[in-house]
Amino acid sequence: GYDISALLKETGNVTLDIGFVNTASCTSAITYIDGDAGILRYRGYPIEQLAEKSSFLEVTYLLIHGELPTAEQLAAFDSRLRRHTLLHEDLKEFFGGFPRDAHPMPVLSSAVSALGTFYQDSLDPFDEEQVDLSTIRLLAKLPTIAAYAYKKSIGQPFLYPDNSLSVTENFLRMTFGFPAEPYDLDPDLVKALDLLLILHADHEQNCSTSTVRLVGSSQANLFASVSAGINALFGPLHGGANQAVLEMLSDIEADGGDVDAFVNKVKNREAGVKLMGFGHRVYKNYDPRAAIIKKTADTIINKDGVSDPLLDIALTLEQRALEDDYFVSRRLYPNVDFYTGLIYKAMGFPTKMFTVLFALGRLPGWIAQWREMIEDPQTKIGRPRQVYTGYTERDYVPVDAR
Ligand code: ACO
Repeated sequence: GYDISALLKETGNVTLDIGFVNTASCTSAITYIDGDAGILRYRGYPIEQLAEKSSFLEVTYLLIHGELPTAEQLAAFDSRLRRHTLLHEDLKEFFGGFPRDAHPMPVLSSAVSALGTFYQDSLDPFDEEQVDLSTIRLLAKLPTIAAYAYKKSIGQPFLYPDNSLSVTENFLRMTFGFPAEPYDLDPDLVKALDLLLILHADHEQNCSTSTVRLVGSSQANLFASVSAGINALFGPLHGGANQAVLEMLSDIEADGGDVDAFVNKVKNREAGVKLMGFGHRVYKNYDPRAAIIKKTADTIINKDGVSDPLLDIALTLEQRALEDDYFVSRRLYPNVDFYTGLIYKAMGFPTKMFTVLFALGRLPGWIAQWREMIEDPQTKIGRPRQVYTGYTERDYVPVDAR
């Protein structure tokens, strides 16, 4: 009930851009996206090449340091990370305080925030050595925290990290292994997880990354900023979409597998039903990450000859949407999350862990972006303006007169 152009005139020289659809908040040299052409590059390298040839460890180094590491740099980075995977024993106590059915995402963000209390020697955003140390600590400890959050949710004992394993291998062992029992790492599983982590590693100024930067712009430390990013990622319109996709596919299956009926619900906007895993603010064409995943989804999901009926539902759903003008005219295509949930499920992860896996993947991006912001002399505290639509001045009314 207000005239927005009149209000804008009154407010003066501000731009109203709800959802920051056309507003750049920073300059950045980390990730390039061309949404119309479906291009994604980290530090100039096409995502397709990194997915095929690189590793998550190498991509992490690339995002944070700007260049691919030499063999020596990579080995040194790897061995530093392996030596920092252990959690402080007192931090372990922390997990006991949550209810058993707690979602692991808030457990993750709380534990990351708590890291700042355990590692007070690496909180200064302007001390290069401290930033380097908090970077290594976060990268090495987040997988341990994630595995503990999972073990806590199923009532199983925690496993200490094994430094002879890579961070990805360690995470799988701490998640699916048992103390004092050998855990046979499945190389296909390690490779699939590594690929998924690479694809999620950065995506320029998305909601969680912008949150990390905004919190960090007040000069909050890296742990506090990343903890805020994890909470932003939890929402179903962002990282929480991978969980929401699987729930949507399971609901369609439970309703008898009628894909057309579901598509009609979305088109009729029944109770705000959306096609989860579809659409993207920047990609108005096929998300290049979804294209890479789709290629591998079938082999991973149908491994050992066991097929998943939810994959068939997903494929039919995609096909229907690609043929339907409602989705085509709105340029709605599958995003990265449309197929990831099915792969995580095939790997043995429960639905609640899907967004945690996204957080593990996105961590190097958050760190790289936070560091770029801190090092940028142009950085100012993030402080958007508003267009006020409330009452003009009015007099206070005593309580007995209201
Ligand atoms: N299903 C049905 N309709 C949709 C969907 C969808 N998934 N996404 C957008 N639309 C429709 C909107 O209703 C709107 O139609 P209208 O103009 O007739 O009202 C039009 O498409 C434009 O959509 P917006 O909401 O303006 O697009 P926006 O850029 O704000 O939203 C978002 C992008 C949040 C990703 C949205 O597409 C969505 O909610 N998708 C489902 C959740 C999801 O998959 N999120 C993961 C995103 S990727 C990531 O975080 C890794």
